[in-house]
Amino acid sequence: MASVSFRKLAKSYGNVHVVNGIDLEIADGEFVVFVGPSGCGKSTTLRMLAGLESISSGEVMIGDTVVNKLAPRERDIAMVFQDYALYPHKTVRDNMGFSLKVRGIKGADAEARINAAAEMLGISHLLDRRPSQLSGGQRQRVAMGRAIVRRPKVFLFDEPLSNLDAKLRGQVRTEIKKLHQAIGTTIVYVTHDQVEAMTLADRIVILRGGDIEQVGTPDEVYNRPASVFVGGFVGSPAMNFARANTSGGDIVFANGDRIPLSAVGSGAFADIGDREVIVGIRPEHFIAADGSAVVLNGQVQVVEPLGSDTLVHFSIADAALTARLPPEVRPVAGEALRLGVEPSKIHLFDAKSERTLA
Ligand SMILES: Nc1ncnc2c1ncn2[C@@H]1O[C@H](COP(=O)(O)OP(=O)(O)OP(=O)(O)O)[C@@H](O)[C@H]1O
Ligand SMILES: [Mg+2]
Repeated sequence: MASVSFRKLAKSYGNVHVVNGIDLEIADGEFVVFVGPSGCGKSTTLRMLAGLESISSGEVMIGDTVVNKLAPRERDIAMVFQDYALYPHKTVRDNMGFSLKVRGIKGADAEARINAAAEMLGISHLLDRRPSQLSGGQRQRVAMGRAIVRRPKVFLFDEPLSNLDAKLRGQVRTEIKKLHQAIGTTIVYVTHDQVEAMTLADRIVILRGGDIEQVGTPDEVYNRPASVFVGGFVGSPAMNFARANTSGGDIVFANGDRIPLSAVGSGAFADIGDREVIVGIRPEHFIAADGSAVVLNGQVQVVEPLGSDTLVHFSIADAALTARLPPEVRPVAGEALRLGVEPSKIHLFDAKSERTLA
């Protein structure tokens, strides 16, 4: 097991800057998830850590060693990809054993490692099959098994679940979490699925255009997003945003609705003065009951009953918002809508920089 450090780590292709000098300390045993939109540099960062991509500048450390110049096989890491790349003509046992054989681990020792990993992943009964005789989820487990048997210092995962259907993805996600709880090895995991990030990570790194936008626990990035970007990226359905002004100690919306600043974000925004702001409200922080102290007036656009909840899409002036309300609430499209808001859960961002005003 080992810690991982990035020191001003950068990658460019010619004059295209893909990773812009990121700094990050990952503790020994930590599960860190990189998220961000397509093309933001997640895979490139992971591949520089793995040694599969050259480093333009800066340093990668594994434990106390700068590994910039080490070949992938000298870094003692194991990587699990989206396409599991199993050997089609080898059995599951031989697929899992191959990397051991290459490293000179054979016989009873190899056998014991393979059996232990197979048991941990629930694939003991599949050891004599070939990949073509397995389901997608089973193949993904074999790919993980192949990584586990090597007992690397660090596991790297690049979107390992994206080829699986929704149900399997949930199951294998739980397997990965169990695996980390069982063996405690440092994991660096890349996904663009924010649910995976929230459920798996000790800390989430939100990448945007090759820069780190925020690093924090799932709780921190959900409750204290540093920017509109993070607020909109973490949480589902996504956080709502509406432009407004602050004036006379209130947030004033385009339709004239006002919310006293002293109540917003538990007072974190009381002193921001008069300015243009972007108001962030999560769908789950609207309240159907009308007796609420803080009320917004909108117009219902579309109602989506989900069984467990009702999603109500509505507008306030020219802003389009979504509220997640109890299932029995069924407003009608076109109607006026009065919704309470939990004021302590409201976020305010600067209208220009889009950074939090907290
Ligand atoms: N060989 C290359 N030459 C030039 N640009 C490249 C090269 N490889 C990758 N890029 C660019 O680097 C950027 C980051 O790519 P990367 O694969 O790291 O993104 P990602 O965050 O993993 O995206 P995704 O979620 O789609 O997998 C992209 O804009 C991509 O076009
Ligand atoms: Mg990628």
